[in-house]
Amino acid sequence: MLMIANWKMNMTRGEIATYLDSLSGEDRWKIWRDRGIRLFLCPPYPYLDYLGGQCRSRNLPIGIMAQNMCAFEKGAYTGEVSAAMLKDLAVDGVLLGHSERRLYFGETDGAIAEKAARALSSALVPVVCFGETRQERDLGQCAAVWSRQVGPVWERVTKCREEGVRTPVYWAYEPVWAIGTGRTADLGDIREVASHLRKTFGEDCASGLLYGGSVNDESVSGLYEKGTVHGFLVGGAFLEAETVLRVFDRLFGHP
Ligand code: 13P
Repeated sequence: MLMIANWKMNMTRGEIATYLDSLSGEDRWKIWRDRGIRLFLCPPYPYLDYLGGQCRSRNLPIGIMAQNMCAFEKGAYTGEVSAAMLKDLAVDGVLLGHSERRLYFGETDGAIAEKAARALSSALVPVVCFGETRQERDLGQCAAVWSRQVGPVWERVTKCREEGVRTPVYWAYEPVWAIGTGRTADLGDIREVASHLRKTFGEDCASGLLYGGSVNDESVSGLYEKGTVHGFLVGGAFLEAETVLRVFDRLFGHP
């Protein structure tokens, strides 16, 4: 299980220290890690190094992911951050194709596929986000949207596998209408996505499905199903360390 906190453009150094102080009060992190349950924090770029260092010095077995990455290897790309730089900072993975990147920064399915290929070959775990808007859902276009967004990435994943690259890939189903709205998809919707990925791209593709969109300590239990949901990508609710702890306790506290 991957529990990922996407902090988006939030948090400062002081707030991060306070957050980690709260997480450090929990003594079950190593037990959870040994059971394959991992927490990953995705801070803004400037704090990747600081956050990683803080987690290591506090002996917190918590992973770090970036919120984005450049598809190009290196060179004259002002304002961009490369896969090699993320690796250099001991970052574990990277969110790609978040709907906010698609909407506000014009990221296309093709560009996201390029980034995914670069991440895979750099041994950075890509978490590729996809999901339909309210309008696309109302027009009955969900399946077409999922295929359009996942297809080009899956093609690159398949090619990387043929070349012997074994880096895992995760898919975060984040319906746009559920992000920051307090409305979640339901388990039926998530099962439909899993079944669509399985039928369209094969069993392998559905084996790393996460859900994101208004997940919190109230909604999380009803959104989890073993074998279907392999983790959650959480925005607003995971800006509070206390909510992270409540969610972990609720889902994994009682084996
Ligand atoms: P919320 O959890 O705030 O709805 O955000 C979801 C998200 O976009 C995570 O990437």
